[in-house]
Amino acid sequence: MVRLLHPFTSLLPLASALALALALGPTTAWAYNNGLARTPQRGWNTWNSYGCSISEDVILDAAQAIVDEGLDRLGYEYVIIDDCWQGARRDNDTGIIPADAVRFPNGLRHVVERIHALGLKAGIYSSAGTMTCGRRIGSLDHETTDANAWAADGFDYLKYDNCFNQGRSGTPDLSHARYDAMSKALNQTGRPILYSMCNWGEDAPWLFATEIANSWRMSGDIYPSFDRDDDRCPCTDITQCKLHGYHCSIAKILEFAAPLGQKAYPGAWNDLDMLEVGNTGLSLDESLVHFSMWAMLKSPLILGNDVTAMTNQTRAIIANTHVLALSDDPTGSPAIRLWKKPVSSSSSSSSSSGGNVQLWKMPLDNGTYAVAAVNLSPEAHTLSIDFDDVFYDEHLENDDAAQRSWDAFDLWSGVDFHTFDPTPAPYDRIRLDASPFSRSIPNITVPRHGIRLLKLAQAGTRGMGMSKDEMQRRDLERKANVRMGRAREWMAGRQERRLDARGL
Ligand SMILES: *[C@@H]1O[C@H](CO)[C@@H](O)[C@H](O)[C@H]1NC(C)=O
Ligand SMILES: *[C@@H]1O[C@H](CO)[C@@H](O)[C@H](O)[C@H]1NC(C)=O
Ligand SMILES: *[C@@H]1O[C@H](CO)[C@@H](O)[C@H](O)[C@H]1NC(C)=O
Ligand SMILES: *[C@@H]1O[C@H](CO)[C@@H](O)[C@H](O)[C@H]1NC(C)=O
Ligand SMILES: *[C@@H]1O[C@H](CO)[C@@H](O)[C@H](O)[C@H]1NC(C)=O
Repeated sequence: MVRLLHPFTSLLPLASALALALALGPTTAWAYNNGLARTPQRGWNTWNSYGCSISEDVILDAAQAIVDEGLDRLGYEYVIIDDCWQGARRDNDTGIIPADAVRFPNGLRHVVERIHALGLKAGIYSSAGTMTCGRRIGSLDHETTDANAWAADGFDYLKYDNCFNQGRSGTPDLSHARYDAMSKALNQTGRPILYSMCNWGEDAPWLFATEIANSWRMSGDIYPSFDRDDDRCPCTDITQCKLHGYHCSIAKILEFAAPLGQKAYPGAWNDLDMLEVGNTGLSLDESLVHFSMWAMLKSPLILGNDVTAMTNQTRAIIANTHVLALSDDPTGSPAIRLWKKPVSSSSSSSSSSGGNVQLWKMPLDNGTYAVAAVNLSPEAHTLSIDFDDVFYDEHLENDDAAQRSWDAFDLWSGVDFHTFDPTPAPYDRIRLDASPFSRSIPNITVPRHGIRLLKLAQAGTRGMGMSKDEMQRRDLERKANVRMGRAREWMAGRQERRLDARGL
């Protein structure tokens, strides 16, 4: 049997096909058309550290710290006020939700102006329900009033929750209608406002949110635990989930996110929820899995720690520009999981089931790649990263990537987690000693609850990958090979047909 060769363009992952389309034409409108979040948004949100205990001071202190720490220069630009900013009732005359006069004695506009004066952008929160999750006034059926008020105050971002939605959910149509109402109201303000949907993955937002929002939450709320199962986050398969809940662990959200990368692209991202890096509950290795994989999956990177009191370790994690570059890569295609393998624990006394190890891969600019080996088991494991696995898709696309040799760079190896050095380690210092590799990268040890995050670049290109000319040359060569393959198939087919005709 002759296997049909596909024209390789038909096998491009959706995200890279769309990225290509976006690169080709500025008028192409695949995503919510406000021009924002071409790469996943970064910033800081009050909730994970402060919950309802927010005030003007808390927010402005955090904004100042973001600038003092240089986080703004790393792209952490949105300062987002989460729930509990609201006063008790809408204004009788204007219908506007006022700010809580005790927490925000100078009003919201003053806070926004101060945030803008620092060169940052300001975010606000509400719910597509009658009340917010903290039982404050919600925005359902008041979308135009509220969007106009936020635009007038100068807000640049809306996080829009899903509590108290009056049962107006349960089908994608119902959820779409509720979230689209705000989408349209934001658009009609004329102010570009990043629209971050927070409906916890209910009614499969990855199927309907791409044209109405810049990002959508795809699971119940995160909490700072690496892999502790909690019945309040009861689902195992997000595509079948009926109760999204909260207290979802890092490992569980990662599992939920694995199949969803195919639905995201520039301007339309899966949101794996805010970061817990720097909060109590995660070890260093666990934090590296969390941060790296949120970057690999192109989740928004919204800090949730107290940025006014950071340790050097937290700084070193959130400021690793090699990892941030994965999130910013223009290819805009989230990582896919190549495999997940259960592992058994070697200690017989262990009550743990052993967990698993996983291999993830993401295509990057210039024909480079990021590869992540993630160990969700309680013991270190040594594995081999096989290029036939890594370059499976490329093989289908008639690209000989698995045959080439690759330099591998360990994106966390140059980081000293005790002292903070904002300068990224140069590539020649983080290159794995045995580079370049062909066929596989053997002997990669991944710590328990840990990650090895590698960048692969064609051997000898000092981590930068191929030039545009070289990429183009290879593309043409591949296309020619596809044509030749087709011609060979046709010839072979003709031979068969002849033999058939002769009854052989
Ligand atoms: C509103 O939507 C239109 C049509 O998609 C788009 O051209 C425009 O840029 C949007 N405006 C804002 C402020 O998002
Ligand atoms: C607004 O309306 C509420 C109830 O209708 C009333 O209790 C309150 O006094 C009014 N406030 C103002 C400022 O008129
Ligand atoms: C943090 O790093 C700086 C150098 O970047 C160092 O001077 C300082 O002592 C470190 N702090 C701690 C607590 O180790
Ligand atoms: C595997 O790597 C470790 C260091 O990570 C090294 O000590 C060991 O010798 C290596 N083993 C092989 C077979 O290469
Ligand atoms: C791709 O190459 C260009 C220069 O040709 C460089 O500016 C860019 O940073 C490279 N991208 C990556 C991901 O290394």
